[in-house]
Amino acid sequence: MTTTLITGGTVVNTTGRVEADVLIDGETIVGVLPPGSELLGSDLKRTVDQIVDATGKYVLPGGVDAHTHMEMPFGGTFASDTFETGTRAAAYGGTTTIIDFITQYPDQRVLDQYNLWHEKAAGNCAIDYGFHQILSDIQPESLTAMDELVDEGVTSFKLFMAYKGVFLSDDGQIFRAFQKGAENGALMMMHAENGSVIDVLVEQALGRGETGPINHGLTRPWQLEEEATHRAIMLADVADCPLYFVHVTAKQAAMQIAEARGRGANVFGETCPQYLYFSLEDQLGAHSAERGEFEGAKWVASPPLRSKHEGHQDFLWKALRTNEIQMVSTDHCPFCMKEQKELGADDFSKIPNGFGTVEHRLDLLYQGVVDGKITLERFVEITSTTPARMFGLYGKKGVIQPGADGDIVVYDPNGHTTISADTAHMDIDYSAWEGFEIDGKVDTVVSRGKIVVQNDQYLGRKGDGQYLKRGTSQYLT
Ligand code: URP
Ligand code: ZN
Ligand code: ZN
Repeated sequence: MTTTLITGGTVVNTTGRVEADVLIDGETIVGVLPPGSELLGSDLKRTVDQIVDATGKYVLPGGVDAHTHMEMPFGGTFASDTFETGTRAAAYGGTTTIIDFITQYPDQRVLDQYNLWHEKAAGNCAIDYGFHQILSDIQPESLTAMDELVDEGVTSFKLFMAYKGVFLSDDGQIFRAFQKGAENGALMMMHAENGSVIDVLVEQALGRGETGPINHGLTRPWQLEEEATHRAIMLADVADCPLYFVHVTAKQAAMQIAEARGRGANVFGETCPQYLYFSLEDQLGAHSAERGEFEGAKWVASPPLRSKHEGHQDFLWKALRTNEIQMVSTDHCPFCMKEQKELGADDFSKIPNGFGTVEHRLDLLYQGVVDGKITLERFVEITSTTPARMFGLYGKKGVIQPGADGDIVVYDPNGHTTISADTAHMDIDYSAWEGFEIDGKVDTVVSRGKIVVQNDQYLGRKGDGQYLKRGTSQYLT
């Protein structure tokens, strides 16, 4: 077993920062010690196998990205990152745990899909991984499967109010699943957009010959996210179950969540870097001479980017600061332009939906610290500690303390990162984040005691990552 000492850095937890050395024995943190510990002169020095010099740097708990879609079958193709490429890219960016969504379509059995996801991930992941389960068109068999999955450590279930005929469940189906969640302690997750109305708007836009990517956003207005968010909160109220909103984009949806929390409901929200940084206007202005209007396909995801003039982005940053929104995940679901996004060249509704961001989440959120939008401790909270607590991993993940897994990011506040598809490691032929400048840099990444990234080199191996059988959420009363 390797013993690792991370020395000279500033250890940051949600509770504050302290100059300390971190000792990892094998896979587990065994000590947070006084800096430059005199202990180094004695027994400890003899037993330490590797030292990571973190002088002048932050020592952070490894990132937990609770929303990824590796190899997801979607939009007539598959998300371009496999578990192998996607988790390696995540490691480069300081994420040491992902929670990926098992995808179930209406003609598939939930438990078959659960087994399939294990087959896809086992032996391929660079970092630890857990699963949520997507439930489409919920039938009695899916409700039974929910009990079995909770026993397997899949303790959260995503339902959809959009994508009719693909993922959508109607209100009655959603309500039954909510009742099951209330019974078995699972955390219910919601994609909140009013799919029936979106389908009408899409049909009408296409009928008018409006086929370009920008129409994706124009046919999914914020009112339809707000309405669905409100409706889901009311259904959860009646079912008395906790509810977590994925990828919140609209200020008004965030306000619905804040209002519910204000009256004591177990309602939570995540947002994603793309909704903090990009707007509908960015997408509109992204036309290139070469690709023309279709360049905007790079920024097609659901829910869509929101208009800058309506203030959604600023509101979401504020909501993160004030805990109206609890955390940030990536919704990593990359599709190449070539042969994937291009499927929608003549019809925006056929553009596969999603961004590739798993590698950049920590950098993009750290920039929020530099820009004074969140504190360093809050950065740790929204990228690591809260996701771990929300999804039953805390103690092992999300904190630097004895007994936790040795998942550490040494982050250099004096370093610099320029994001580019040329240097990123995700399997995607462009970067929506091209040219973003970050005033910081991932220096070293340790996953369960093993140095997996250092000096921009990947030192891990596929299969290092283990399945995480999760407990239930710590936030539920
Ligand atoms: O556009 C998105 N968000 N793609 C991934 C699937 C989902 O709804 O999370
Ligand atoms: Zn979704
Ligand atoms: Zn997603």
